[in-house]
Amino acid sequence: MKQAQIEQTFQQELQSLIASGVWDPYGDFQAIVKKYVSSDEVLAESDVACFRADLKERANRIPLGHILGYSDFMDCRFVVGTGVFVPRQQSAMLLEWLKTRLPVASDAVIYDLCSGTGAIGISAWRQHRGTRVYCLENDETAYQYLCRNIHRLADEGSVVALNKDITDLSFFLDKRQSVDVVISNPPYVPEAESLLPEWEKHHPEKAIYSGKDGSEIIDASLRLAETVLKPGGTVIVEHGESQIAMVKDLFTRYQFESVFTHTDPLFSDQTGPAVMTLGTKK
Ligand SMILES: C[S@@+](CC[C@H](N)C(=O)[O-])C[C@H]1O[C@@H](n2cnc3c(N)ncnc32)[C@H](O)[C@@H]1O
Repeated sequence: MKQAQIEQTFQQELQSLIASGVWDPYGDFQAIVKKYVSSDEVLAESDVACFRADLKERANRIPLGHILGYSDFMDCRFVVGTGVFVPRQQSAMLLEWLKTRLPVASDAVIYDLCSGTGAIGISAWRQHRGTRVYCLENDETAYQYLCRNIHRLADEGSVVALNKDITDLSFFLDKRQSVDVVISNPPYVPEAESLLPEWEKHHPEKAIYSGKDGSEIIDASLRLAETVLKPGGTVIVEHGESQIAMVKDLFTRYQFESVFTHTDPLFSDQTGPAVMTLGTKK
């Protein structure tokens, strides 16, 4: 079946996708077509059942990345799947800042907390090749994806996966004042908040929710940053738009200086705004 016929033939599936409430039904449809349609633009008869099943899953709000098996972020294709957080374009704001606004020494040590697939840490290393990046992740499934992505996309001597819980400081106590930049996109959603099904039902709870007001892992990120950063080092944390005052308060409690929040509509999309707060260690 030629590409031009596919939309016509699968009208019913496309209509179900539209009715399901996904925010970009045509984009998702085309992304799933691409998974099957080869360069000669043909959907093989033997692929039709799988193609239909993928469309059905997407209409059931399974994240697109989990259906495709990959997610494109910055200049890379990251392996993703059930049980791991699919990187969001919002996080590109943090990397853009790192690239253009923050002087990162060529041999800097960077920690990427709550690393998931490693999208942020690996991208940070790819734009600052001389640096050493430690990606910290405590979930076993996410950790497997992290290791795969490092293996595929980075130099394994320079980007290191650590299967660590960031709320437990014991591993980090002898690493005081050794790190130049700490970045974190932690789980930050308050536990009672309702989200789109992609996140509420089809992502691991611990990748999304973080206590009553969503602050538990933000707090842990700052506590760890305060421990390991060199004086003058920078911490950058992504969070929700409604949490700006609470997050600034936490930065102040850990005595970070020059604290400010940056929201950038360029990186925001239908799934939410891009928001991060930055601070410097005294
Ligand atoms: C919102 S996801 C972000 C993943 C990745 N940074 C990204 O932007 O694609 C949060 C990640 O934090 C991890 N996480 C949650 N609690 C953690 C903890 N205490 N220590 C380490 N990682 C944690 C989750 O398993 C999940 O992979």
